[in-house]
Amino acid sequence: MATLMNDIKKILITKDALAARIAALGKQITRDYQGKEVVLVGILKGAMPFLCDLMRHIDLPLVIDTMVLSSYGDCTTSSGKVCIKKDLDKDIKDKHVIVVEDIIDTGITMDFLCPLLKSRGALSVELAICLNKKERREKDVFVKYIGFDIPDEFIVGYGCDYAEYYRNFPAVAVLKSEVYNKE
Ligand code: IMP
Ligand code: MG
Repeated sequence: MATLMNDIKKILITKDALAARIAALGKQITRDYQGKEVVLVGILKGAMPFLCDLMRHIDLPLVIDTMVLSSYGDCTTSSGKVCIKKDLDKDIKDKHVIVVEDIIDTGITMDFLCPLLKSRGALSVELAICLNKKERREKDVFVKYIGFDIPDEFIVGYGCDYAEYYRNFPAVAVLKSEVYNKE
């Protein structure tokens, strides 16, 4: 039977390690935001598994919202390199926003998003990012909640895709080179 595992060269972060770290992040957020009005903003599609796991470890009344961003030139109203394909449903004025994202690489996406959310009247905007490729950073973005630092390798799984596939792989992994060469 064909399995996703057949395409994987190595597992970087196991399911169990993800679960343990995310539980700890949820506890930390619960402590840090006592008495505050929190909105978790998940960046689709990559943040889906991280958002679902993290929110269930945050023991606070909170609102979940989502955005879809694109760094490619397929939006007509693109300003710079990032554009909004789906905006928030709710107002964030006077709320404490935590942006939940799968991975930060150059930092260009978050460097675009954070000032934008602040300009809408959020009381605070912090980042919760599962995977941090810090060697690749081009923009100086402060990430308050980091799951794991990872090396500069293209990864898939736990929300991260290659050509839209592998988001459902439950661990963080590196693909075999044959997978890219199939194209
Ligand atoms: P940044 O604007 O360069 O920080 O890009 C962040 C986005 O690039 C992430 O939300 C991912 O969608 C994508 N990305 C960066 N590195 C990887 C990777 O190794 N695998 C899959 N997607 C990645
Ligand atoms: Mg993404």
